[in-house]
Amino acid sequence: MRILFYTGKGGVGKTSIAAATALSCAQKGHRTIVLSTDAAHSLGDSLGVELRAEPIQVLPNLWAQEINALHELESTWGTVRNYLADLLAWQGVETIAQGELSVIPGTEELFSLLQIKRHYEEGLYDVIVVDAAPTGETLRLLSLPDIMRWWIGRLFPIARALLKVVRPVARRVTDMPIAEDDVLASAQLAIDALVDVRRILTDQEICTARIVMNLEKMVIREAQRSLTYLSLFGYAVDAVIVNRILPPNVDGHFASWREMQQEYEPIVDQTFAPLPILKAPHFSREVIGPALLQPMADLLYGECDPAAFLYRGPTQRVLKTQQGYDLIVPLPFVSEDQVHLAQSADELLISVGWHRHRIVLPQSLARLRAQDAFFEDEALRVIFTR
Ligand SMILES: Nc1ncnc2c1ncn2[C@@H]1O[C@H](COP(=O)(O)OP(=O)(O)OP(=O)(O)O)[C@@H](O)[C@H]1O
Ligand SMILES: [Mg+2]
Repeated sequence: MRILFYTGKGGVGKTSIAAATALSCAQKGHRTIVLSTDAAHSLGDSLGVELRAEPIQVLPNLWAQEINALHELESTWGTVRNYLADLLAWQGVETIAQGELSVIPGTEELFSLLQIKRHYEEGLYDVIVVDAAPTGETLRLLSLPDIMRWWIGRLFPIARALLKVVRPVARRVTDMPIAEDDVLASAQLAIDALVDVRRILTDQEICTARIVMNLEKMVIREAQRSLTYLSLFGYAVDAVIVNRILPPNVDGHFASWREMQQEYEPIVDQTFAPLPILKAPHFSREVIGPALLQPMADLLYGECDPAAFLYRGPTQRVLKTQQGYDLIVPLPFVSEDQVHLAQSADELLISVGWHRHRIVLPQSLARLRAQDAFFEDEALRVIFTR
């Protein structure tokens, strides 16, 4: 099983590239499914077929699916969401930190990712190509299971205790909404499922992300940021894709665009090395339907199998040292002063900008204290000693 996760800023060509990639995987003989987790689906338009919430076969070896996020959310999280909404309303929303609140559902796309788990477990396909929502969203979603586990860890023990001791009384003496058993059970199921999704997506032997960009300053910046955050959250990236490169023979209006692109191209090459940088030209018309996706795939991958691991680089790891252990987290494009660390019991909280990753420490580290941290080769090294 292989999972290819395409992400990037809005409009850079994620859907087109994901569709072209899936087409090429299918032709190479892999049973391939391409699925869109972006609520604003355009995968069907790209492939030139009408897609549904369940997979349909589009071509030999190729299936496609536009996930119904709302349906996934309702069936997995509906009960819990209703309860949380009652609870938050009862508490008065202003008592809850804005940052924490914003990660509580309403975030349907997260539940779309559960379809990846389903396909992974059913094992019907060799390759799953994911056309994800634009960068910021996707990255936030990918960190959600951690944050939810944290929420549930704090919220539900209280709820459970209340349930045992107070419920019969609480029903009479307070109007605080009390979680019924089914709420707790379905919360636990949902969290477990999401944690599974995250485990699959962070398994470096299964899943790699590919960042799609164009040769524009803001898009390149965003791509850099997503490489940082993907690394922070433990996802492997095995290529970046530069789409819409203007050909040499353009004139007028587009000549100056091409000039600008030519300035940025070497910068991208240097910045993202040693990751392979795949390139696709700006075609003379929109890339829609297999006949046009095909040349796109050919130019991107050439003879190479798109399902291959295009790069294997350093990932999060723990090294034994004389004093204890070192935890190494690759964080490209970040300087030391942008990173903030906090440890509480068995958790290490790494903050980079607005993104926070709560690493649940393995037993060997949880007993130790993080003494020091420094940057080395674009990676954060946290020194744990006894
Ligand atoms: N290399 C290219 N040359 C010409 N047109 C392209 C190219 N890549 C994508 N397009 C066209 O640009 C439009 C946007 O592409 P696409 O939908 O793949 O972007 P996206 O990143 O998925 O956008 P969104 O963020 O909205 O999901 C489409 O009409 C597509 O056909
Ligand atoms: Mg898209």
